[in-house]
Amino acid sequence: MQKRAELYRGKAKTVYYTDNPDLLILEFRNDTSAFDGLRIEQLERKGMINNKFNHFIMNKLAIAGIPTQVEQLLSDNEVLVKKLAMIPVECVIRNRAAGSLVKRLGIEEGRVLNPPTFELFLKNDALHDPLVNESHCRAFGWATTEQLERMKALSFKINTILSELFDKAGLILVDYKLEFGVFNGEITLGDEFSPDGCRLWEKETLKKMDKDRFRQGLGGVIEAYEEVAQRIGVVL
Ligand code: TMP
Ligand code: ASP
Repeated sequence: MQKRAELYRGKAKTVYYTDNPDLLILEFRNDTSAFDGLRIEQLERKGMINNKFNHFIMNKLAIAGIPTQVEQLLSDNEVLVKKLAMIPVECVIRNRAAGSLVKRLGIEEGRVLNPPTFELFLKNDALHDPLVNESHCRAFGWATTEQLERMKALSFKINTILSELFDKAGLILVDYKLEFGVFNGEITLGDEFSPDGCRLWEKETLKKMDKDRFRQGLGGVIEAYEEVAQRIGVVL
């Protein structure tokens, strides 16, 4: 597969065209961003870890029947993916209260959310990814009713699969963010699933094992990512 011109450079990944118009290459960089790009640091090995972590998770999801963009792991830092028409909203599922939910509603951190919540955020760094609802998505043409229903159903199905996977590894899947796009008319999971875009707590100690270590300056960021990867069986 020939890597061609750069299509887009995000905060942590760069996207390249290939010689096939339906396929792209994602390159995972070591850049680690918090607060919508306000703070960016290089963390050695993070690109490789997230690339392999994401490939592992996407493969598990594909086996369970979730349509994903992933085609093939190409190298330590690169993966071949389908070119999706991305939907500009992020889907967030929460099993426990943390992060922006705690700030927004004054709920105590760690409270179990049963049933889990489903939220939509507009992808817009300048506006700090504001919370939006389904009527906004329809009114502004971000997603149709049918697409929203499918995104929600897939997000909850993914929650069942991944909550069990992490639970078996002694970890709580607190919350996570998903991004979907359309490929051949079908809603397909895009972007990435890695400790950059989810919260994982150790079951026994409630120790944070995800990007909150970076956001909150707790240290040991890469060590935590590697520990989680090793526990679920990712070969680094
Ligand atoms: P939040 O508590 O900041 O709303 O985030 C909820 C989850 O979604 C958390 O695991 C982080 C993830 N997330 C991202 O990865 N990127 C984003 O832009 C947003 C809004 C959330
Ligand atoms: N993903 C966003 C950023 O990189 C928000 C965050 O993770 O804090 O800036």
